[in-house]
Amino acid sequence: MDNKKFQEMIDEFTLDSDAIKDVAASFRYDIEHGVKETGESSLRMLPSYIGLPTGKETGEYLALDFGGTNLRVVLIRLDGEGKFEVIKKVAKPLVVPGEYDFICADANADELFDFIADMIEEAVDGNRDKKYLLGHTFSFPSSQTNIYNARLIIWTKEFATKGVEGEVVNDLLKAALARKNLTNVEPTAVINDTVAVLLAAAYKLGNVNIGSIYATGHNTCYYETFTGMGKPAMVINMESGGFNKLAINKYDYKLDMESEKQYEQRLEKMVSGRYMGELLSYCLDDAWNIGKVEFTSIDISTILADNSDSLDEVCDLLKAKINADITTDDAIWVKALAETIASRSARLVVATYCGIMWHLYPNGGIPKQFVAVDGSVYEKMPTIKDNMQKAIYEILGEEADKLELVLENGGSALGAALAAAMEPVEC
Ligand code: GLC
Repeated sequence: MDNKKFQEMIDEFTLDSDAIKDVAASFRYDIEHGVKETGESSLRMLPSYIGLPTGKETGEYLALDFGGTNLRVVLIRLDGEGKFEVIKKVAKPLVVPGEYDFICADANADELFDFIADMIEEAVDGNRDKKYLLGHTFSFPSSQTNIYNARLIIWTKEFATKGVEGEVVNDLLKAALARKNLTNVEPTAVINDTVAVLLAAAYKLGNVNIGSIYATGHNTCYYETFTGMGKPAMVINMESGGFNKLAINKYDYKLDMESEKQYEQRLEKMVSGRYMGELLSYCLDDAWNIGKVEFTSIDISTILADNSDSLDEVCDLLKAKINADITTDDAIWVKALAETIASRSARLVVATYCGIMWHLYPNGGIPKQFVAVDGSVYEKMPTIKDNMQKAIYEILGEEADKLELVLENGGSALGAALAAAMEPVEC
């Protein structure tokens, strides 16, 4: 066991207080340049053409949640006053190993959208008479000219289906619905999942300006007033996973070189669930020369959850993966490394939230508010919430208690229904 090697790797993933304050400052810089469209920002800052809900929205809507490997179609009734009821839910994976895979480069747009249309048919019980308005949470960078027209700029999160990049996704969906004779289902609104989380939280709680996903992918949106700029206020999808003013280490570099889209999504590749396990794999290979052994963020969670002295669970997991004798000492180092990878992730994510606060309240005086977050990493990975809280204090000091992180669980479907119910922002 080479302790020095592990200590070096841990140091490479460690970010101190000054480092995260610097990240918050450069993130704010990129927001400001993005808002002013100076061309100097690494953030896409995509307009969503939607504001915040009043909380009074009502009616029955279909919601399509398309953003990860699990696809959901939900029939929802909005009852106003922040209340709603799920009437029916259909959920299916987009990949079943050995059976089908709609997100690989061999799959095409028609196959993918036909699969989605089948799920919609199931959600409406085959009804071809009743009119349904459909809100679509499509969680990939899309450029919009209005609330309907969202064109996929580039796949992220290792999606690779052919024939979708550059297309208006709701046109692909409409065509698939027409092929199934489901023209009574009308896709009307497309939003990003971060926007859905913000809308859902604003509907239920009010007093929220930031919506964020901390899951397979990572991204954040916020409500921008464009004060003094003569533009209507609306939610902006920053595609913050693409923020790139960050120093990377050699493991980040290796991961990037072996990813589907090199040089894209720098922040996301450092923080999100899709990639954290992979970073651990590269490190363990560097330390032990074991080749590429696959680790996932669920493995990281398992490692972090073992608080026993002997670290039996960590040892068992490592033995099963790399087929070698593992001592408790080895496991202690691996756990310390996994903790540092997770902590770097939490600290970077929080730095972006603080950068938004500095942009929104340049003269200080942050009002008390919620920050709505959804996603498996935030919800389930041990240490993440504590590290986020700690980082907020390190960056914002006394003002830290103005921000309350809240889990907005399953906001994607509710947000999509709200988007279908709300009046869009016209420009
Ligand atoms: C990726 C997508 C982004 C999405 C995020 C979370 O970063 O590009 O649109 O919001 O994943 O799902």
